[in-house]
Amino acid sequence: MASRLVPSVFRSLSRAARPLPRAQWRAFSASRPARSDSLFVHRDTPENHAGIPFKFTAQNEELIKEIVSRYPSQYKKAAVMPLLDLGQRQHGFTSISVMNEVARILEMPPMRVYEVATFYTMYNRNPTGKFHVQVCTTTPCMLRDSDAVMKACEETLGIHHGQTTKDGLFTMTEVECLGACANAPMVQINDDYYEDLTYDTTVSLLKALQAASVATGANLGGADGLATKESNASMGAAGEAALKSQGRSVGAQGLKIPSPGPLSGRRSCEPAGGLTCLTSEPWGNETLRKDGAL
Ligand code: FES
Repeated sequence: MASRLVPSVFRSLSRAARPLPRAQWRAFSASRPARSDSLFVHRDTPENHAGIPFKFTAQNEELIKEIVSRYPSQYKKAAVMPLLDLGQRQHGFTSISVMNEVARILEMPPMRVYEVATFYTMYNRNPTGKFHVQVCTTTPCMLRDSDAVMKACEETLGIHHGQTTKDGLFTMTEVECLGACANAPMVQINDDYYEDLTYDTTVSLLKALQAASVATGANLGGADGLATKESNASMGAAGEAALKSQGRSVGAQGLKIPSPGPLSGRRSCEPAGGLTCLTSEPWGNETLRKDGAL
């Protein structure tokens, strides 16, 4: 028996000692785990606990009836996402009470609603500022200098990713691709996209929003807030000039606020350097076959 085993043991050992082909191994690497508790764990806070009552307004109740009627009655839970969105718009963020109310209306186990709300990062599960500035830093935006946009936000607002200014006016978050890569780099502020940004135009945009909020009394009036300190601050000269030359600003109480869209002079996502094709006259009938085949 031993005589049979010995050759096979040698064979196995020699196989193990043979170096692996290059393609079969790679260096082990690990990145630092990101804390993601805030994405899926609820912790009671004074402004977010189940004891805080939440009800949809009468107007939103009507809207809910309309939304739910789009689905077969046995599948009304399919309306969970639009209802959570509606709750977030009414309440300011998707609190546990909003989720519980949506679960009650759609006759779903609350856990099923929590699962949806914690999966999608668009549901803000903590209070945000009046302006939620979401800076895209995915590759196309990064290649076109989203770092400068981040820097502009951090320096202008004095906050970092995930933080809110003391006056409650701005929350800044870093997000993945928002689907406007052709106009990179860009930020989403509440429901609006501001695109083709530079350091200067980002600073101008934020300062215009601050100034407009203070002028209209829409800021919360924090004593330490940047909006209070700089309510009369003018936009950065370079950024202001850039926006003025493009005619991309809208007025509010004498203040200029850039309108959403590209802030580079482009109308949309057309080539920045002008047309590179379809530059000649389109063909007419004379170039087509006379037999009607084409
Ligand atoms: S990478 Fe920024 S919008 Fe797509």
